[in-house]
Amino acid sequence: MTWHLFLVPIATITLLGVHPFAARGGTVHHYDFIVKETEVTRLCETKPIMTVNDSFPGPVIRARRGDTVYVNMHNQGDYGLTLHWHGVRQPGNPWSDGPEHITQCAIKPSTNFTYEINFTEEEGTVWWHAHSDWTRATVHGAIVVLPAEGTTYPFPEPDGEEIIVLGSWYEGNLNQIVNDALAQGQIPPLSVSYLINGYPGDLAVACPIRQTYRWVVEYGKTYLIRLVTAVVDAEVFFAIARHNLTIVAMDGAYIKPIITPFITASPGRTMDILFTADQTPGLYYMATREHQSEDATVTGFDHSNATAILEYAGNYSSSVQPLFPGNLPVYRDFKASDIFLEQIRSLASKDHPVDVPLDITTRMFVVVSMNTMACNNDTCLRDEKVVSSLNNISWLDPPVDILKAYYWNISGIYGDFPDYPPTWYNFTADYFEESFSTTWKGTTVKVLNFNETVELIFQGTDLLLGSMNHPIHLHGQSFYVIGFGTGNFNNETDPLSFNLVDPPKLNTYSVPKNGWAAIRFRADNPGVWFFHCHLEHHQSWGMDGVFIVLNGTTEETSMRPPPPGMPSCPSWTTTIPIEFLDSNINDMTAKRLAQ
Ligand code: C2O
Ligand code: CU
Repeated sequence: MTWHLFLVPIATITLLGVHPFAARGGTVHHYDFIVKETEVTRLCETKPIMTVNDSFPGPVIRARRGDTVYVNMHNQGDYGLTLHWHGVRQPGNPWSDGPEHITQCAIKPSTNFTYEINFTEEEGTVWWHAHSDWTRATVHGAIVVLPAEGTTYPFPEPDGEEIIVLGSWYEGNLNQIVNDALAQGQIPPLSVSYLINGYPGDLAVACPIRQTYRWVVEYGKTYLIRLVTAVVDAEVFFAIARHNLTIVAMDGAYIKPIITPFITASPGRTMDILFTADQTPGLYYMATREHQSEDATVTGFDHSNATAILEYAGNYSSSVQPLFPGNLPVYRDFKASDIFLEQIRSLASKDHPVDVPLDITTRMFVVVSMNTMACNNDTCLRDEKVVSSLNNISWLDPPVDILKAYYWNISGIYGDFPDYPPTWYNFTADYFEESFSTTWKGTTVKVLNFNETVELIFQGTDLLLGSMNHPIHLHGQSFYVIGFGTGNFNNETDPLSFNLVDPPKLNTYSVPKNGWAAIRFRADNPGVWFFHCHLEHHQSWGMDGVFIVLNGTTEETSMRPPPPGMPSCPSWTTTIPIEFLDSNINDMTAKRLAQ
């Protein structure tokens, strides 16, 4: 394998903008994202964090549906990184999708790369974040996609708008700590606080200095809250004291309005929320805290109550403490979370119709699990480590990204991801033979023909007593969530209750603890698309997979050629692990790595 493989096709690059997937008629916007280390102080700790344009959370991208945005990312930091446009379909353009090892190699320090983002189907709030190491903890921001020129919201125009980004704060140099933990077979660190728009709020116990975000509203006005769940490694609840929230969109698609006193949000989830300042003028806390879904014996988690202040403008006596939302559920309130999730339905209107596939050509059953495997590096602290898997394969990062391997026909990089688990067992049992939890590392990909209709059942397990919610995120297209439930999926009775009328169209959905979730989508976006648990430590532990959607028969239904300046991959020919040279990589046994 030599470098000319990567150089030859460069000559065939056509100018962007002439391809059918490029913007037709929409406005073109340009952003410069300067990534560098910025000193910030939170929770009594001052340290450099990676930021974009010195801001944390990062800058907001605003566009209309139909527009194209170019983001030139200049890496002025100390290590490589990539950016991802979470919830943006990117038709035929996986080149700009961003996940490291999947569609590109990292943008090295002192270099730059221009991403092209095409807003075609999504409308409402989505977001962007780094997609390499755990850099997204500080490198993230909101994307506002307004209705296409000449169209409006399916609800009355709000009086104002507010962006709320929920985040996590970690001590120390997070990437360093995580990489050490992974090398040692240890559990990555816990956040020390959740954040609202970058601040922990008045109730932080880790530090006496208060840093609290404030949002000033006018009595009687209605605002559109654009909420981004940039939390790194947990699901959260969120509420505003005394005020109801009306959710009108999720993950960049409209839903039937849900009026609720609180929300449950998985990492990756975005929501558009109508909020009316209709309570007695005063100060109110908005607050977020973890929704912890692990075994009840797990007590090591971030217990912080992050707050921000909602402040009514005007003159009134406001000497009292802001009111804390009594409607914010406690950590293990599964019932609250279920009540919320059961209400989510697509808007399913004439202007925003539902198109859930009814004839299914590809059925997959994917077991989502925690596992163990041997840890036999010099750096391991014990001879076993916890990992996670999909269909009992724990993702192994390839030496060259999957997109390059696919586009340039480099063999031996990936094998086939199986449609079913290797063994069927009682996934949600209370007791398992020890051997059940053992898994293998592998790089496997599910190849789909263009336009295939896919039904995928995700089944959680209780292996290692490790059952919990797994927010699975798919790049390149949203999917319809047609059902979910607890226990083992029953393929005779459960399909009877599938919602094929107005299922929500989302890009992330939590497979419930010890339960299952069923999704459907049409594979009509040619390219290479990552799917993974959006809990960062599960992603690092291998709860990852890839779809390759093959080209259709026309140019319109084919992947675009690579853009200029794709970051090169480190020279991997000399360090290529022996497993990758095995031409018989499709043989499952070839994927056992003596790590
Ligand atoms: Cu929010 Cu793979 O990403
Ligand atoms: Cu998970």
